[in-house]
Amino acid sequence: METPLTQHIVAGRKPLSLKEYEQVGGYQSVRKVLKEMTPTEVQNLVKDSNLKGRGGAGFGTGLKWSFVPMGPDAAMPKYLVANADEMEPGTFKDRLLLEGNPHQLLEGMIVAAYAIQANISYVFLRWAYKLAAQEITKAIQEAYDAGYLGKDILGSGYNLEMYLHTGVGRYMCGEETALLNALEGKRAHPRAKPPFPQVSGLFGKPTIVNNVETLCNLPHIVNNGVEWYKGLSKSADTGTKLYGVSGRVKTPGCWELPIGVTIRELLEDYAGGMQDGYLFKGVLPGGASTDFLVEQHLDTPMDYASIQAAGSRLGTGTMIILDDQTCPVGFVHNLQHFFAQESCGFCTPCREGLPWVERLLLAIDQGRGHPEDIQALEFHTKYLGPGNTFCALAPGAMEPLQSALKYFREDFERHIYEHHCPWSKVWQPSI
Ligand SMILES: Cc1cc2nc3c(=O)[nH]c(=O)nc-3n(C[C@H](O)[C@H](O)[C@H](O)COP(=O)(O)O)c2cc1C
Ligand code: SF4
Repeated sequence: METPLTQHIVAGRKPLSLKEYEQVGGYQSVRKVLKEMTPTEVQNLVKDSNLKGRGGAGFGTGLKWSFVPMGPDAAMPKYLVANADEMEPGTFKDRLLLEGNPHQLLEGMIVAAYAIQANISYVFLRWAYKLAAQEITKAIQEAYDAGYLGKDILGSGYNLEMYLHTGVGRYMCGEETALLNALEGKRAHPRAKPPFPQVSGLFGKPTIVNNVETLCNLPHIVNNGVEWYKGLSKSADTGTKLYGVSGRVKTPGCWELPIGVTIRELLEDYAGGMQDGYLFKGVLPGGASTDFLVEQHLDTPMDYASIQAAGSRLGTGTMIILDDQTCPVGFVHNLQHFFAQESCGFCTPCREGLPWVERLLLAIDQGRGHPEDIQALEFHTKYLGPGNTFCALAPGAMEPLQSALKYFREDFERHIYEHHCPWSKVWQPSI
């Protein structure tokens, strides 16, 4: 099984230096695109590869690039931004790539920047990823020294500057337009779309924001071609994917696997199954802002279309397992606490609605809930759903809630009618 993204990542050792990275073929794709390909050819190659963005929404990468104005009349400068903000609960895949092989990200960024003819690029990094910050700083310097960044790269006439920017540590900064505001030194709330960043992004200029994992795929697609890339996967979606599993499993972790492995394979073959004494109850397949799936979905392939058909989203591909001894109400309350705290406060439904949801869940969890609270929660899943808020944070927050009400409704009702949490070891009388 080929693992192009992680093949040079070795646990417990520092990432490859530039020299070592070159020895295993590093920066060959930069040489190839700068010497042999036009920017449009690179865009078409990536379009043909059917690479879908790994940041959560799964939008076609080549298609997204094709919206950037090209040619001599295009607005300048253009920007390329690597989204390394990774703050979704349960998601820790980009960290592996950032800490394990920073040159691979830089190489992907140079390919992407060339494809859209950007001359300035940023790595927008989650502030808490201190080790990644050190490694990326070192890698950028090495790349400048070797002539892969800066003026007239490898004598091609193409120029690219690259900067590391560490974010302030808010989940919102990962949303691409809020990220652009943050990069401009403004408050990190999202922008209205259209115009899309591809046309009017950073400082009002054409900008592409791509996820770290998305960018890391590019050198391999350029080096090995579309047919090879398609052959890596087990489904219509192409390539490999970094999948993660957390929760009460024997060996939580992150693995690069062909797109299309099933939830069951991930859970049993890679995460070692449930810990002794715990049973599987449900899974958020793509991180904290996706819908629960349950036992009947265990054989669903982890690809975009199959997970959607099962009623959830592939999201970041990092699953969180709910076991039979964890209270689903407390579990969802915990998530809603995070989302309510991270609301940027820009639009009323999210700013007011998420804390309300959080309070209702806390009351139910503590045995203080009322039967009508379930209807109130259901109302919120619609009121904060797609199209009713300014960005996707609130609709994303509603996904685990709406599916918990669907699959674990009885557990909510028991809290209400028994006036305490059935999972609590200590009797909690209703207050
Ligand atoms: C609240 C919120 C947080 C997000 N956080 C991230 C993030 O940390 N990293 C990321 O790549 N995308 C994140 N996204 C998705 C980005 O807005 C964007 O779709 C993505 O960076 C595009 O890259 P891709 O096309 O390579 O997937 C977030 C979206 C929302 C609504
Ligand atoms: S949905 Fe929430 S996070 Fe998004 S703009 Fe509105 S208040 Fe901000």
